[in-house]
Amino acid sequence: MDKAKRVAIAKDVLRLVEQGQPELGEESWEADIGRFIDKDRFELEKRKLFLERPQLIALTADLPNPGDYYATDIAGRPILITRNKEGEAKAFLNACRHRGVKLAEGCGHGAGFTCPYHGWTYNNDGALISVPSRQAFEPEQLRDLIALPIAEEMGMILVHPNPEGHLDFDEFFGPMKAYLEDFDIPDYELLSAYRAPARINWKHAVDGGLEAYHVPFLHQNTFGTGGLAQLLHRPFGDHHALIAPRPDILKLKDIPEAEWPHSCYFTSTNSIFPNTVIGGGDPVLFFQRTEPNTEDPGVCDYIFRLYGRKNATPEERARHLAGVDFFMKVSLEEDLPVQTSSQIMMEEGAVPSVLFGKREINLTRMHKAYDAAIGHDNEASVREQKRKMGLSPSN
Ligand code: FES
Ligand SMILES: [Fe+2]
Repeated sequence: MDKAKRVAIAKDVLRLVEQGQPELGEESWEADIGRFIDKDRFELEKRKLFLERPQLIALTADLPNPGDYYATDIAGRPILITRNKEGEAKAFLNACRHRGVKLAEGCGHGAGFTCPYHGWTYNNDGALISVPSRQAFEPEQLRDLIALPIAEEMGMILVHPNPEGHLDFDEFFGPMKAYLEDFDIPDYELLSAYRAPARINWKHAVDGGLEAYHVPFLHQNTFGTGGLAQLLHRPFGDHHALIAPRPDILKLKDIPEAEWPHSCYFTSTNSIFPNTVIGGGDPVLFFQRTEPNTEDPGVCDYIFRLYGRKNATPEERARHLAGVDFFMKVSLEEDLPVQTSSQIMMEEGAVPSVLFGKREINLTRMHKAYDAAIGHDNEASVREQKRKMGLSPSN
């Protein structure tokens, strides 16, 4: 993004700060709880939001060198991303062509993948290169791994989980592409990788990155209570940026515009449709995905990866590692417990609906985009849930 656009954003934030008002959207939206707990909706989402669309699945920093690989899942579908000798990223369904056994887990490095069952071996271009007792099969049955569409640019890796899927990097990001250029994502390297099942619907963790209304309250022991409430909520197609002024943004008033620093004293948390959140950056960049990998809408795999600038001095690296601890605490000890509580209360039938207020503009936009993508009627679902609970429509 060019400087002029950053300056324009900073001016919008400054205006809000000077007015002392948070940005308010047009409506406070009542949303049905089915979006978090309904099994039919969950299956539809896995197909429509995940398996039929490209996904921002990883960063270049997750497999920076030839021979590196990263195995993960998209809505339960096992994906293997490799980097071949030429340094190109490749993506495959992570399953042996003999009897379908998974070939790799997590991250690693090697010349290829040997299946643990009967020893078929594939190189990191996905070619089947070795088969014990090859003569036991017809030659045309000895197939390479099933390749998936992949694109790598600006330090980010997009994969389409369908081998025949359409993937275009520019089309996927739209206007968000130029905005994300400012994040210098290729300048970061992986510091820490967390992955574990979480007792939440996958959307709760995205929601946490879409609004900062909760921050001064839930995160008072980490972020503190002194943050400015004047955040901007910017849509970029179906992707969303939550732009937060740093407390020193008021300094800009005393500096000629031409001398404003590149950062313009704001940070941005970026929610990439449907479930990736990239944020932070100073000193630590985080990448979060919540994968709906099971049959249970109330469980996901919570993936949280943290990166620091490359070529850091020992002092800078110490600051990065402190940043890793900070974000882990914020996410696992503060965000996840309340998101889990919200999930369980919905499952218990303790609330018929939830509210996304006027300060949670991005949340409403994102959820409406989910609903549009799966053809969901929110208002009818809210009415139906209230009827089931024996509540009047106004309750
Ligand atoms: S299942 Fe992979 S070698 Fe048999
Ligand atoms: Fe949070």
